[in-house]
This record gives sequence, structure tokens and C-alpha cells, in this order.
Amino acid sequence: MAAFRKKTVRDLDVREGMPVLVRVDFNVPLENGRVTDDARIRAALPTINELRGRGAALVLCSHLGRPTGRDPQFSLRPASERLGELIGKHVHQAPEVVGPEVRRGVARLEAGELLVLENTRFEPGETKNDPELSRELASLAEAYVNDAFGSAHRAHASTAGVTEFLRPAVAGHLLEGEVTTLEGLVEDPKRPLVVVLGGAKVTDKVKLIERFLEIADAILIGGAMCFAFFKAQGKPIGDSLVYEEGVEVARDVLELAERSSCRLLLPLDLVLGKSFDAATERRELDGTDVPDGWMGLDVGSKTGDAYAREIAGAGSVFWNGPMGAFELDPFAAGTRSLAEAVAAAPGTTIVGGGDSAAALAEFGLADKVTHLSTGGGASLELLEGRELPGVEALDDA
Ligand code: 3PG
Repeated sequence: MAAFRKKTVRDLDVREGMPVLVRVDFNVPLENGRVTDDARIRAALPTINELRGRGAALVLCSHLGRPTGRDPQFSLRPASERLGELIGKHVHQAPEVVGPEVRRGVARLEAGELLVLENTRFEPGETKNDPELSRELASLAEAYVNDAFGSAHRAHASTAGVTEFLRPAVAGHLLEGEVTTLEGLVEDPKRPLVVVLGGAKVTDKVKLIERFLEIADAILIGGAMCFAFFKAQGKPIGDSLVYEEGVEVARDVLELAERSSCRLLLPLDLVLGKSFDAATERRELDGTDVPDGWMGLDVGSKTGDAYAREIAGAGSVFWNGPMGAFELDPFAAGTRSLAEAVAAAPGTTIVGGGDSAAALAEFGLADKVTHLSTGGGASLELLEGRELPGVEALDDA
């Protein structure tokens, strides 16, 4: 496996009480002021605990959601409370991202204590990667650690700009582990490498498909994006969801696949509904020619079995995107059988964040895969071969 190219927390000299700014990804789902999925907070614990153990005073920062300015609904307080429960220690919550009160809070921090800044997106300078905000964030600490893999594809003040003003700037354990695992998948996979891609839009996944047509042994397509492929092949798709711009893209991908040694597999059968609704009439279709008045909402059992066989024989599997409308119970079986096949696979199994992570969690299989990424967009951009600004900004090893 390729070595990680950046300095990490292991390279950091920490003095007792030294303030360290740690960018985490606490962009977690909330309901009634409580965190409903704390996976991203737990994933940051190895770095947080190590730095506390070495005597650092931790200043944590993160965004949450996409607020436009200050909005109490997007406060990080529920996340800091959950962090406090997980580590069994009170975590201070700052009322602002930067400013005099934050500065006083940092000055009061003792070795091993933690202060969480407010949602970085309360500051308009965050997403603009504004040097003023970057400089203010940098002035709070003597070193910077980025452990926010889920946000590493964003060139924002707290993920990239801050490093212009604060060194050393190193990677946390989560960031390092994610990058090493995902790079290993494309650089030196155990073969055969089987890639399962679902979701609604082929345009969101086209770069990934093109890259994996060069690297993988098989790509298995599911989710509504299969209808762009079927339409490009001139097959009837009834009222199934299709984005017109995706059809041309799918046609190009099919052509590319013909010249590639990687096999591109499309669903063999479907489960249909009359509308996108759990109470709709449901019908299993042996084949994929969707009649008018019906829409494909899941892959069928033949597809599930065929995909499960590919996955069982794989040396490594990468999965991103649901097979169907798994949020509607009558159309969840395809995604569930895929998740079960991935969980039971003997090879290395890597699952991208976002919807596939949510599906695995819903089926109680989240701990049955080799690596469940905390990054949705970030994992896809890395696998596409793009540089992640949050990683590039760190000190070279
Ligand atoms: C994510 O959830 O994918 C990350 O936290 C990034 O969030 P963003 O897409 O709002 O930048």
C-alpha cells in the first residue's frame, strides 16, 4: 500500500497545555436538538483522545449543514454534548467561531480540555476561503490538525486557508486512514475488483465510472441511473426517473465499456411501482422493459443474486449508492440484498459515505465491512483521482 504523503499527528510535538486547532467533520444529522447518527463524532475520537493524552488543549472546529449565516438550528452544541458523553468529560461550547469571547475561552483551556467553536459556516468567510477568517482561526492555536475527511474536498477557511497562517499543519488519524485505504483501492486492489454504483444520476458518477473502467474488473450498476443506460440502448423505460443529460453520458460510457476489459453490468430485472410512494401498486418485472404507466423503483431478485455472486468472488469491493428507493419499504429489498452481500463478502469491502452508509446502518450491517468511509463527496473525488484541498494543504512528510 502506498505510504501517506503528509505529516500526521504522530509527527507533532505537543507541549503540556499547547492549544491545537483540530478541524473535524461533525456535520451530523440532528433531530430535536439531538444527534441521531454519531458515527462521524466517534470516528474523530482516536485523534481527539491521543492529543488530549499528550497534553494538548483542544480547539475543535467544524461546519454543520449549509446555513447561510448565523442560525441556531445549525449550532454545534448537540455535537459537542454528544462528544462530551462519548469521552466522559465536559466539552466547552463557544458562542462564536472567532472573536474576543472565543479567544478568552481558548486562554482558559487547560491541558486535556476541549472547546468546540461554533459552526464555521456561521462566518461568511468560511466557504469563501477568506484569508481574514483563516488568519483569525490560525491565531487561536500553535498547531493545526485536519481530521475532517468528509470535508477534505472543500477549499474552505477551516480546511485549507488556515494552513497559510498556521504551521505545523498535519493530518489526524481518520484523515490518514481514509486516504490510505481509498488510495490503496485504486492503486493496488486485491483482484478481482468489483465496483457497485447506484443512485439517481449517472452524471454524478460518470468520472468514477470512467476511472474504474480503467482499473476495475467489473462495474455493477443499480439505482435510477440504470434508466439512462437503458434509454441510451433504445429500451423502453416507462415513467422511470431519467435525467435527459444523463442519456448522452450513458451512451458514451457504454461505448467506452466496449473497448475496456472491465465488464459493465446492468440490472436483469426490476421492481416497479406506479408512483414514488410506499403505498403505490407494486409489480415484479422479469426483464427490464418498463411498460408505460410504471416506473422502476428497485432492482429485482435475479439482479440481486447475480450481483451477490460477483461480490462473493471479489478480492475487493467498492460500493457507493443505493440500488433502489430503499427509503420506501416495498422497494428496499434490492439495496438490502446488496448490503448483505457486501457484508458477507470474503474480500476487502469498502463503502462510500452518504446514502450507502445510511443503508448499511439501517440494515444493522455498518460494522460488517472492512471500511465504511465517513466521506460522501470526498471519497468520490479522491477515487476519481482529484486532489483534495484539505489534504494538499498539509505539511509534506
Ligand atoms: C458531507 O457531509 O459530505 C461533508 O460534511 C461536506 O458537507 P458539504 O457538502 O455541505 O460541504
